[in-house]
Amino acid sequence: MKEFKMYLDLLYYDSFKEFMEDAAVGEGDFVLTNEFLYNQFVKPLEPSCGALFIEAYGLGEPTTEMVDRIRADLPDGVRRIIAIGGGSVLDIAKMLSLHVSSGKTEDLFLGDEAPSRVYDVYAVPTTCGTGSEVTNACAVELVSLHTKRGLNNNLMFPAKSVLIPELISGLPYKFFATSSIDALIHAVESYMSPKACPHTELFSKEAIRLILRGYQYIVENGLEKWTDLADEFILASNYAGIAFCSAGCAAVHALSYPLGGKYHIPHGEANQLVFAATFRKYKEKKPEGKINDLEALFGELLGVPSDQALEAAFALFDKVQPRKPLREFGVSDSEFKDFAEGVIAGQTRLLNNNYTLLSLEDMVEIYQAIY
Ligand SMILES: [Fe+2]
Repeated sequence: MKEFKMYLDLLYYDSFKEFMEDAAVGEGDFVLTNEFLYNQFVKPLEPSCGALFIEAYGLGEPTTEMVDRIRADLPDGVRRIIAIGGGSVLDIAKMLSLHVSSGKTEDLFLGDEAPSRVYDVYAVPTTCGTGSEVTNACAVELVSLHTKRGLNNNLMFPAKSVLIPELISGLPYKFFATSSIDALIHAVESYMSPKACPHTELFSKEAIRLILRGYQYIVENGLEKWTDLADEFILASNYAGIAFCSAGCAAVHALSYPLGGKYHIPHGEANQLVFAATFRKYKEKKPEGKINDLEALFGELLGVPSDQALEAAFALFDKVQPRKPLREFGVSDSEFKDFAEGVIAGQTRLLNNNYTLLSLEDMVEIYQAIY
């Protein structure tokens, strides 16, 4: 059985001001964001609601401990959380919206109790990668286990998903590059997943088309020209979110988690590090299958023969965002077996979506290939 899950109340606005007025953001609402976004977009509108900046609780990818401290600081009487930011902000808002009796975020992941939903989340992305605004998923570092974990729960579908291209056009280039590559990987992993169905493929393929066309445009015309295509990139990220919400992500996300959890390499960058090596391993282990459909799709979009399409795509991604070897992040090759064991023990939710089975040795070889 395959399933296409979509809860969508999607709103498009030309400006952030129009959204805030239309949603009548005020008493009973709470804004969760970053300070620079607040100062730029929210503060000038002077809404009568509280606000909190996630960086005051820790830098980098979110941890359960950060979410607990934010939860403790939320005032009484909040009905809606207006989450304005990248994947971390949106994921934290979705975790806050769920309540377990212990009040501990880790118990959402490790406990037996079914949580209840206590807030409605309005998810307003400011990067073009997360897709979190349309998924029932979140990811966080579990402090007690020193690893990143994902969680799916239909109660975490945002009440409203709000797309405002104005919010992403001020992104620094590096954030554009790493977030859009994350979206591309969402689209590709969901396309290759055994849980893919005709509806998820529709969204995956359109996200891949928009991102590859966009990358070709900026490589030809100047990387800073990505803002010409802000509308397309935010849509692609959203489509990829719809696809992976049902078909799931897989080994690339699983293998990147130790790099994010232990070395705090940003999510999109960590994914890009392992992406090409994972797909070369897939191709080596199972050269015939859905990977040929992906090669045909890449080949058609990039204007190269199918048998050269994967390498042409990897080369294009590296032009958009050059990759550094793992050793430059302080990672030691003596850790690869531990990483792989941790992935096998903790990321079965993702590994079940792999194109083909990857053994512990395969995973160690993937890390070695990018060392
Ligand atoms: Fe991702």
